[in-house]
Amino acid sequence: MQISSNYSKFARFLNLGMKLIFDKKGLQSCLSSYEDEPGMLGLVPTMGALHEGHLSLVRQALSENSRVVVSIFINPTQFNNPEDLKKYPKTLEADMALLEGVSDEIIVFAPTVSELYTQNISSKNYSFNGLDKVMEGAFREGHFNGVATIVEILLDLVRPDRAYFGEKDFQQLQIVRKLANQLTFKVNIIG
Ligand code: PAF
Repeated sequence: MQISSNYSKFARFLNLGMKLIFDKKGLQSCLSSYEDEPGMLGLVPTMGALHEGHLSLVRQALSENSRVVVSIFINPTQFNNPEDLKKYPKTLEADMALLEGVSDEIIVFAPTVSELYTQNISSKNYSFNGLDKVMEGAFREGHFNGVATIVEILLDLVRPDRAYFGEKDFQQLQIVRKLANQLTFKVNIIG
């Protein structure tokens, strides 16, 4: 019900051939439909409210891969202030319009919280040799564990060849690089 009303709201983008997927099963079946076509897969994780910085990452991902997934997911576990989470802008329609301006080939993955956090809405505890405790991490307790948790969930689900993160969030990029080294599968982290 929820899904079909969501889809009707986005019909104009879907009519243009864009893919908007709200669930893991749908994403996996979309990605497996390309299995016979060789090519690289790129992932650009975002929390939506897209701006030119995101779009330039998306353009880079499109130029380096045959297919690109842009995830739009406001990750609750990286907010240590619940008020900030409540206030975070939810702009999926505007985000779709911006992405459509870049390419109608993008696969947009916009799951619900329960779709990605199937058990508890909580972070894993990572060891980043203290990098998560300094600078921004010193003021936002648990923030980088939350970021790493969702990035690991997304990487595990999408299994991209390359994943793209803004260099503006320099500390986050270093944390994600450390995370990628700890994973059992290989992914290139591009800043
Ligand atoms: O940089 C962001 O927007 C977020 O921290 C990320 C990497 C999408 C994880 O939620």
